[in-house]
Amino acid sequence: MTITQEDEFDGLKAIGRIVADTREVMGRAMEPGMTTAELDDVGRAYLEREGAIPAPEATYDFPGATCISVNEEIAHGIPGARILRAGDLVNIDVSASKDGFLADTGATYRLGRVKPSLDRLCRDGKRALQIGVAQVGAGKPLAGIGAAVGKFASRNGYTLIRNLASHGVGRALHEEPGDIPTWPNRDRRRMNEGLVLTVEPFLSTGGLWATDGDDGWTLYAEPAAPCVQYEHTVVATKRGPVIVTQPA
Ligand code: CO
Ligand code: CO
Repeated sequence: MTITQEDEFDGLKAIGRIVADTREVMGRAMEPGMTTAELDDVGRAYLEREGAIPAPEATYDFPGATCISVNEEIAHGIPGARILRAGDLVNIDVSASKDGFLADTGATYRLGRVKPSLDRLCRDGKRALQIGVAQVGAGKPLAGIGAAVGKFASRNGYTLIRNLASHGVGRALHEEPGDIPTWPNRDRRRMNEGLVLTVEPFLSTGGLWATDGDDGWTLYAEPAAPCVQYEHTVVATKRGPVIVTQPA
């Protein structure tokens, strides 16, 4: 969506705060021995209490309130019987709507101590997100996001998953202007003032593509390699990016 009025901004910020808080509550709740279904229940309960509707379920009939992807799973993991263990990388992606506004956020959490290489990947995944967000602003080129993130990734020896794009958001989970690549690209469009979009690079130590598993939802890196994703919903304003998915 493109925001033109202050009350639209307020509605978007309200759901942005809710999805960010849900993600943080889930990140704090996870512990070894818990199943991903139990972790999803924590998120569902929080969203319900806040009067928000889980978007993956409402939009795509996804079997869960949130997407929980563990280790080799990089996105759209289905909450279920999988048991979390110390050393896991757990990606939690929360998108939900309230009063007609929708926001989307994700983060990869470390459960207990993880390998140093994975610590570094998480730290740099957050930096990749910040670098992408910094390119957002009214009148700026959409391709600036992928150019900046791509430069950061290649300088630091990482790869980017090249078929999981960022996207327009705000009134629907995926909407105009469609896919926004977070890797170098030749997109010629510019961000209009008030455009609402996600920035969500998938940074990896070797993965280039996301491929489907057998369950019709879960995505895996190809070639197989650790991968992290950090995602914010952002508004392009004259003064630059405004992140709406900030925890309270
Ligand atoms: Co998301
Ligand atoms: Co998204």
